[in-house]
Amino acid sequence: MRLQLIMKHRNLDAQFTLFPIGTDASEVPADDAVPEEVELVSFRELVPEINDTGYLTHAIYAYPAKFIPQIVRYAIKTYTKQRDWIVDPFAGSGTVGVEAYLCKRNAVLLDLNLLLNHIMPLKLYRGKERLHEVSLYELLADMKESNKQFIPAWSNVAYWYAPEILEVLSQYWGFINNTDDGIYTAIIKAALLKVNKRFSYTEDRTPKLARSRRKLQAIETLLEENWREQLDEMLQSLSLKTLRDLNDFVVYTRQHHAKDLGQVEFYGGVDSSDVAVPRVCDALITSPPYLQAQEYIRSTKMDLFWLGHTEEEVQALSRLEIPYRKPDRVIQTETLDEVREMLTRDDLRKRLDSYFCHTVNALENSMNQLKSNAAACIFAGNPRIDGITVEIWRILAEYFTERGWTFEKVYEDRIKTRKLFGARKNKNPDGMKSEFLLILRKNAICQTTAPQCEPLLQDAADPLPDPKTSPSNDAS
Ligand SMILES: C[S@@+](CC[C@H](N)C(=O)[O-])C[C@H]1O[C@@H](n2cnc3c(N)ncnc32)[C@H](O)[C@@H]1O
Repeated sequence: MRLQLIMKHRNLDAQFTLFPIGTDASEVPADDAVPEEVELVSFRELVPEINDTGYLTHAIYAYPAKFIPQIVRYAIKTYTKQRDWIVDPFAGSGTVGVEAYLCKRNAVLLDLNLLLNHIMPLKLYRGKERLHEVSLYELLADMKESNKQFIPAWSNVAYWYAPEILEVLSQYWGFINNTDDGIYTAIIKAALLKVNKRFSYTEDRTPKLARSRRKLQAIETLLEENWREQLDEMLQSLSLKTLRDLNDFVVYTRQHHAKDLGQVEFYGGVDSSDVAVPRVCDALITSPPYLQAQEYIRSTKMDLFWLGHTEEEVQALSRLEIPYRKPDRVIQTETLDEVREMLTRDDLRKRLDSYFCHTVNALENSMNQLKSNAAACIFAGNPRIDGITVEIWRILAEYFTERGWTFEKVYEDRIKTRKLFGARKNKNPDGMKSEFLLILRKNAICQTTAPQCEPLLQDAADPLPDPKTSPSNDAS
């Protein structure tokens, strides 16, 4: 098998694969140690037509560990053709959906996080007319006069806000939730989510929900100033920016493919390990959860509560998050077994087993729905746990090639402009250095060992919900 030959050639025992505890960044092999099978690239340079990662509607919502659109665009252009269907089982904030749509492809997006259902209609806005700033200003003015209240169904809400700020936010959300669900309301909602976080006690500098002394002090200082004015200004300028992004999106889609719009179906709130993927697809493009920053539901629960979800819903989803669930099988590959043996802590071994079990289950569930010869493009970093590097792409390549997939190639993108999790106080103080795009190709006969698909994760008796698709939100 080609991958096995590569492994032999690369000498798995060499220092490249597993860094012993305590090695520092200087021990990362120099360029000339990178085997020729790993293609060193910069996706930003490969896709020069995208010079802003937040272009068009990509930046409307904040989401942890978002794809940069250049990677997705590259995978789409290289491994799919027009009108193909692409599946993303870890869709997050829907970057694959937006890029697929802009490139005249179709997409099926799946994610445990319910936010996907709120995010996609705005990111894929299909209105035909320009949106007017004056209409937005009118709605914002009405909101300030409103006396409706909305308090999220969140027992801890008062822990996260100063009382006077909570009162104003409740007033604004009360108005928004009681106003017709038009496009201008949706724009303000998206902006309010960012304002909610900025004016809360949670730290802005990490995706996690965490109070910090720095933030408590910042809010205290703010309360001595003209905080209400600042809050309104932030809300207005973010809303205005979103409105302009949507107008640019409309112009772009009208110019580029007015008659040829792709379809994007999205299913937020499903477990990709056992949801029935609704259609046969031509490619998979995805980025699995990070091994060391997995709490997407916990990180975004402030948004979920303000959007009207309940504690029960959020808790039920949190329990399904990779890697907090018990594994139902142990994934074994040469590299993973080596990592497992090197780990000295039992809790970390359990986390590793859970991570690979459920990540592989979810990937395999979607990959089983791909046509023969389809490409699976999987983007992942090389996290370290307890000082040991875990080469996720290699483990996945080993697993799937043993089941009949062909290893096609792996790209390595050195992270220049951002350091993931760089500020953490752990044995990986510099964060990840590189991220990898693994390409696997489906052969005619690929074995599967994934568990049987259930119709729906939370309640197997229910059918898969009807797909949500970007509605024709025409404001005209
Ligand atoms: C790296 S993020 C994907 C980000 C996405 N590529 C984007 O651009 O926004 C991984 C995603 O996996 C999702 N996830 C975690 N466990 C899951 C599960 N069991 N089923 C489906 N999605 C899951 C998380 O909610 C998170 O959105």
